Amino acid sequence: MSKSEINRISREQTADALALLDRLKAEYGGGKAFVETYGCQQNVSDSEALSGMLARAGFTPCDSADEADIILFNTCAVRENAENRVFGNIGALKHLKARRPEVIIGVCGCMIQQEHIAKKIRSTYRHVELVFGTHALARFPYLLSEALSRRGAVMDVADSAGVIAEGLPYLRADGVGASVSIMYGCNNFCTYCIVPYVRGRERSRAPEDVIAEVKALAAQGYREVMLLGQNVNSYGKDLGNTDFATLLSQVAQVEGIARVRFMTPHPKDISIKVLDTMAAHDNICKQLHLPLQAGNNRVLKAMNRVYTREDYLKIVQAARERMPEITITTDIIVGFPGETNEEFADTLDMLEQVRYDTIFSFIYSKRQGTKAATMPDVLTDEEKKRNFDALLAVQNRISKEINDTYVGKTLTVLTEGVSKTDEAVLTGRTEGGKIVNFTGNPDCIGNLTRVTITESRTWSLVGEQVN
Ligand code: 5AD
Ligand code: SF4
Repeated sequence: MSKSEINRISREQTADALALLDRLKAEYGGGKAFVETYGCQQNVSDSEALSGMLARAGFTPCDSADEADIILFNTCAVRENAENRVFGNIGALKHLKARRPEVIIGVCGCMIQQEHIAKKIRSTYRHVELVFGTHALARFPYLLSEALSRRGAVMDVADSAGVIAEGLPYLRADGVGASVSIMYGCNNFCTYCIVPYVRGRERSRAPEDVIAEVKALAAQGYREVMLLGQNVNSYGKDLGNTDFATLLSQVAQVEGIARVRFMTPHPKDISIKVLDTMAAHDNICKQLHLPLQAGNNRVLKAMNRVYTREDYLKIVQAARERMPEITITTDIIVGFPGETNEEFADTLDMLEQVRYDTIFSFIYSKRQGTKAATMPDVLTDEEKKRNFDALLAVQNRISKEINDTYVGKTLTVLTEGVSKTDEAVLTGRTEGGKIVNFTGNPDCIGNLTRVTITESRTWSLVGEQVN
């Protein structure tokens, strides 16, 4: 396959791979598998496919490396600290491998799709025997087969434009919500970001495959779906006969799905049609995660984000005109190479203007091979840290002020379960994605229920179920 071609794997081809898993089960099954996931929702989704394939091969999921016969680390390459954590954790398994040489230790995902990392793992971490990148996910049954039949180290780190595979058996965590990938890859090449290098070109799943999966999830009892893509606005561009707004509306019409969310739209091309579709369907959550990254136009240009702060504010206004109650969240990078203190002040100003419900903020991390990696810094690490703290202080105040306005109101909450810290308390989310901890009847777990808010915190709300 040439590097520019997308490899589409049909259900029939996947069926052959699954038949191999059935044979592996007969020969090797009965053990346990531990899959540890780093990074974003897409990685969580890929891990669900890996767990599903492992289960099909007879390896039941477990919660710790100590009791596992197969250990897989599904890695993230977006920032250096996530990579360092992976190196630390796989290094720590050296003793386990010495004690139990039959254990298979694998490392997969985005980190492996970077050549220098794959090389480092093979040369430094000899106890890791199974190494494969994001493009090899659908080939996992064959890789597993080789690893189980002990043909030494198994590696699949080939670069490609990307794979799209239907029919993989996802093993999802129990709960009210499920994620569904609608597309893979990214063509945007924001200058700080490694994702386009490790996840290949944008490619969309056929709408009928997405709808069939959502229907199956509804039949299994899931109430909420999260549609996933690095840039969901690009959905369908490679198919030609659909677009994201059309798919969103089709998903919203699947019977039994109480809530639809999506992640992530790009501010450069989110359309009015998408906002109108959100407004038109009661079960599409009035929530927008719209990554800003920076508030200064020179920095946005250097990031190759292809919008200005003025463009961004127009989208926010258009969204609020149609959905006054919408919650808006964002991603911010502090300390992009060349960003000055004055330019950073424009990011703080955007927080005040947009008044986000929550932000996810990161200090810039240099990624080898990206354009920004060659751009010079003007701020020291201490200055960047100071800006980062200032950002959090402003946002925490705004989040609390917004949450205070909910006190006394009655909201619809999808109850997810019992609180992890207090068994007498239930926990769920509002349509806007806010966590609500509340007292009520556990019968409402898995259902929509009305909750009156009695108290507000910076990151959550507290309430009582309305009888
Ligand atoms: N350094 C810091 N943060 C980054 N992100 C992506 N690449 C980097 C990087 N090199 C952040 C962006 C993106 C989020 C998923 O991760 O804010 O939206
Ligand atoms: Fe990375 Fe930009 Fe693509 Fe998001 S849109 S994955 S930040 S390159």
